[in-house]
Amino acid sequence: MRKLTVLLCGILLGAAVAAAQDRDTIAGIPVNYDEMKVGDYRVGLPDPLTFNNGKPVKNARQWKKRRAEIVKLFEENQFGKWPARKPALRYDVEQDLGFDGTARRKQITLYFSELKDGPRVDVLLYLPANATGPVPILLNLSFMQNNINVSDPGVHPGRRWDPKTRTVSEVPSVPGTRGFGMDAIIKKYLREGFGFATLCYTDITPDFNDDDELGLRGLYHEKGSPRASDDWGSISAWAFGVSRLVDYFEKDPDVDAKRIALTGCSRLGKTTLWTGAREPRIAVVMPSCSGEGGAAMSRRLFGETVAHLTEPTRFPYQFCPKYAYWGDKMQLMPMDAHLLVSLIAPRPLLLQTGTTDNWSDPKGEWISLVEARKVYQLLGKDVPASDVFPAAEQPIYHTLGYVMHEGGHGVLPQDWDYYLEFMKRYL
Ligand code: GCU
Repeated sequence: MRKLTVLLCGILLGAAVAAAQDRDTIAGIPVNYDEMKVGDYRVGLPDPLTFNNGKPVKNARQWKKRRAEIVKLFEENQFGKWPARKPALRYDVEQDLGFDGTARRKQITLYFSELKDGPRVDVLLYLPANATGPVPILLNLSFMQNNINVSDPGVHPGRRWDPKTRTVSEVPSVPGTRGFGMDAIIKKYLREGFGFATLCYTDITPDFNDDDELGLRGLYHEKGSPRASDDWGSISAWAFGVSRLVDYFEKDPDVDAKRIALTGCSRLGKTTLWTGAREPRIAVVMPSCSGEGGAAMSRRLFGETVAHLTEPTRFPYQFCPKYAYWGDKMQLMPMDAHLLVSLIAPRPLLLQTGTTDNWSDPKGEWISLVEARKVYQLLGKDVPASDVFPAAEQPIYHTLGYVMHEGGHGVLPQDWDYYLEFMKRYL
């Protein structure tokens, strides 16, 4: 039953994506699903190990400088810049027992301003009851409010944005309707000695067009002012919020803040990657179905493209305004997904995709891994030896890893096992 609910959740999450698949235009823009028409992704492809001035990167020390160049490319052309000023660390923690007394439970509220009712994120953290010291954790970026995600009485009601009124309201816990199968998954992680933290991403900042005056972004946006070309989109704001949460975890004696793994699916897969790129304290990065704007090569014309992502009625607000400019000039873009993947090096990265998630182009994610391998190798890390696109359900657990489930867009029950195995190997 639990497996079924998780499966249903995955299916629901991907419903919009699945509906989009196999349609030959989305928002009036053609979509290609024909391998014969993907073009040559190598045209104009920037090399991770060549500086912008054409000089080669020969060692780890030089890579540090090249890495800074690449971060800048993504700030200016895709995700936008983080604010230079961090909010002061403010939080409340409530501790008790969860899951019928079998786990320690912490409910943390992290505030992004001095206002208790201002932008803030509720984090639900479970810890193994028998832990005697700080534990490594998985931080899960979720589409669900905490009280909807688990079926555990006492979890605080979450909040939801209404894009029409642009206001937030509470999401009550309705007995019998909660729990998408996460309880069993979380308990499994606890049994293996890991903590499990989850949060609802829109707590940080909302997820709709013209939302830059709301949530965390609203704290930094001058009312009425137009967005600069490198102004941060919501993905960058979600990432910045997670980075502030790492500031908190460093203060939490129950968490081993040097051993934090991060996961999220779809737009939260893109967020997972960008957070991993910007926040070196994330030790293991595991984006699920991050697709276009995430780990899938943009120059490979298959499924979603930059033009689809940034079409005005779709998701331009998730990126910086400049990103839309590249929609019809993909081969001129100074970056591509393999550079984003390379920013995680030398840390362990597991790309999780799905066989029928064509909109997100699982093969395009594999290719970006192939093209990023040389950075991991330069830093002395192990990578897949073969270029051949792997079969479904055959996890590759190198430091630069890949796994594709049999199925569509979303996280399936076995994916949680793949993540767990990867964390056991690397944390
Ligand atoms: C849309 C979008 C994808 C995104 C997905 C999601 O389908 O086109 O790029 O990953 O939404 O976040 O659910």
